Amino acid sequence: MSWRRYCATGEDTNVAGEEFALVLRPGDVILLSGQLGAGKTTFAQGVARGLGVVERVTSPTFTMVREHECLNDRGISKLHHADVYRVGSLDEVVDLALGELVEESAVALVEWGEIASSVFGLEVMNVDFSIDENEGRALEVTGALTNGRNSELDAWTEQ
Ligand SMILES: Nc1ncnc2c1ncn2[C@@H]1O[C@H](COP(=O)(O)OP(=O)(O)OP(=O)(O)O)[C@@H](O)[C@H]1O
Ligand SMILES: [Mg+2]
Repeated sequence: MSWRRYCATGEDTNVAGEEFALVLRPGDVILLSGQLGAGKTTFAQGVARGLGVVERVTSPTFTMVREHECLNDRGISKLHHADVYRVGSLDEVVDLALGELVEESAVALVEWGEIASSVFGLEVMNVDFSIDENEGRALEVTGALTNGRNSELDAWTEQ
C-alpha cells in the first residue's frame, strides 16, 4: 500500500508534516528520502509542530542529530531529527549510534534515511519526496509501519 499527497508550496509541505504527526505513535522511525531541496526539513518542521515541539527546528545537516522535547497527549515525548546525508561510511553510521534513535516514547525522523535503512530494519515508514515540473512536491508514504494505520493515512491523503 502507498499513500500520496501533493504539495504545491512549501507551506503545503509544512502542513503535510503537521498532519502526518496524527499518524505517528511512540517508537516510530520515519525515513525521509528525496533529492537535495526536496522538502524533507520543511516536512520535519511541520511534524515537529504537530507533535508540540516548542523550540525552533532547523536542518540537522551538520550536527547529524538533534533532539526536541514534545508536548502532546499522545505519549510521544521526544522527537529525534537526523540527517545522514554526510555520513560517509557504515562505520560512521555505527558511530552515530542511529539505532539509539529508536526509543519507546520517541519518534525518529531521518533525512536521507535510505542511506542508513539497514540500521533500522523493516519496521519503518518511508516518506519519499519528488519534485515535479511545476516545482511542487509529490509525497509518497510506504513501509511496513503503515500496517494497521489505514484510516489515519487515508485521512492524511484526503486533506
Ligand atoms: N511543495 C513545495 N513547493 C515548493 N517549494 C517547496 C515545497 N516544499 C518545500 N519547498 C522549498 O524547498 C526548499 C528546500 O526545502 P528543504 O530544506 O525542506 O529540503 P530538504 O529536502 O530538507 O533539503 P536537503 O536535502 O538539503 O536537506 C525550501 O525553500 C522549501 O521552502
Ligand atoms: Mg534537509
